[in-house]
Amino acid sequence: MSVLHDRLGRLAADVVLGTRIGAMRAGGLALAVRGDRVARLLHRPWRLDPYPVYSELRAAQTRAGGGPVRSRVGITALATRASCEAVLRDRRFGVQPAGDGSRLGGKAAETADGGSLLEPLDLPLLITDPPDHTRLRRLAQPAFAPRRLAHYRTVAERVTDGLLDAALARSRQEGRFDLVRDLASPLPIAVISALLDVPEVDSERFARWGRALGSALDGVRSPAHARELAAARTALRSLLTGLLEQRRTEPGEDVLSALATAVDGDGATADEALALAQLLLVAGFETTTNLIGSAVQAMQRTPGQWAALIEDPGLAAAAVEETLRFDPPVQLTARFAHEDLEVDGARLRRDSGVLVLLAAANRDPAVHPDPDRFDLHREQAARHLAFSGGVHYCLGAPLARLEGEVALRVLAERAPRLRLAGRPVPRIATVLRGPLSLPVTA
Ligand code: HEM
Repeated sequence: MSVLHDRLGRLAADVVLGTRIGAMRAGGLALAVRGDRVARLLHRPWRLDPYPVYSELRAAQTRAGGGPVRSRVGITALATRASCEAVLRDRRFGVQPAGDGSRLGGKAAETADGGSLLEPLDLPLLITDPPDHTRLRRLAQPAFAPRRLAHYRTVAERVTDGLLDAALARSRQEGRFDLVRDLASPLPIAVISALLDVPEVDSERFARWGRALGSALDGVRSPAHARELAAARTALRSLLTGLLEQRRTEPGEDVLSALATAVDGDGATADEALALAQLLLVAGFETTTNLIGSAVQAMQRTPGQWAALIEDPGLAAAAVEETLRFDPPVQLTARFAHEDLEVDGARLRRDSGVLVLLAAANRDPAVHPDPDRFDLHREQAARHLAFSGGVHYCLGAPLARLEGEVALRVLAERAPRLRLAGRPVPRIATVLRGPLSLPVTA
């Protein structure tokens, strides 16, 4: 049992990395069945609709005076808005255990059957505490300067129009199209390709590897999955290394050129530049796909909401914020206490992990009245934690908002009669949430 607890105790780090969730699951099912709410987040049927579990966790936390809810899986969880926000902003917490300066990326991880596999993702920033985090974040920041965002908007509009031309033609021929496959998934990839200026000839492979690596955010499912990830990672590294080398001699306006210049000026190591480029792809891809898919799904399922958007496509930005609040693409993150401390009267020992349930915080009735209702006209919908908070606040948030707003506005203008044409296929996952497939007709 102690071996199990030892493994489970590492969950917080692995939620970010997604590597040991599979191992967790094997032991957590019995606890879930016996009523452990945190364990339930890892298992069907609760995983399919985690919101009732979040609600119970919020209530349990409030009853206990606000401190984290303890779980037999060896880690605590926070579900109220106030406590989640406080921990994300508290510099006594980090994304690594205290004193563990080593990156978890690159270490061997365990499969559910106890085997060892190579860590498939190297996610600088996300798994780095200050001071290294501060330096790395500064390197990636220029990617999201206002001038660049204006350029990405033009790209997003052009790409969305092109994708919709094809999707609507398919709808006329076949009676339906898949909103995820035909729009929500290819759009972010095209925008990130523009951000890194990935040449047209490489963009299809870039998308394939990005899709493979993105799936690792929610855990490595099996040794076969791990091998697929390792292959994608090697291939992507080789593509990005070649591009970085080329941008050193022929710099352009893109983010890879900026990273290549930083390596030459000693601002970053070559490995860090490579990993940052990879992070931009992995962090910005499935997340934005989920945002667009979940937004359309929520508006189609909630009476009057799609009609409101058709009437006023200017509500697209509000639809993005309400989706981020109501059904966020990243449901949770994790932090480690860097010293013995108290959270609302509950003691946490140094290095203990805390799950920060962003999606639970977003439905806290103390902040949002009638929180389980999706409402385009909700006041202060943007008061959500979908992009986290504190020093790790999502760097790509302006880009994600822009892509979501463009996709929903253009969709409302060009496909006003859009409606569901089959059963959506949900992603069965704990960290990432959104439809894998959303059949619609226009
Ligand atoms: C709707 C879409 C998105 C959502 C919901 C989302 C969510 C998040 C969250 C929750 C975090 C912080 C995790 C933590 O605190 O542990 C994060 C970090 C990050 N995101 Fe996003 N993200 C989205 C889109 C993007 C895009 C489009 C990009 C870039 C192309 C991006 C790049 C990043 C980066 C680089 C970080 C690390 C920031 C840091 O650790 O300092 N994200 N994102």
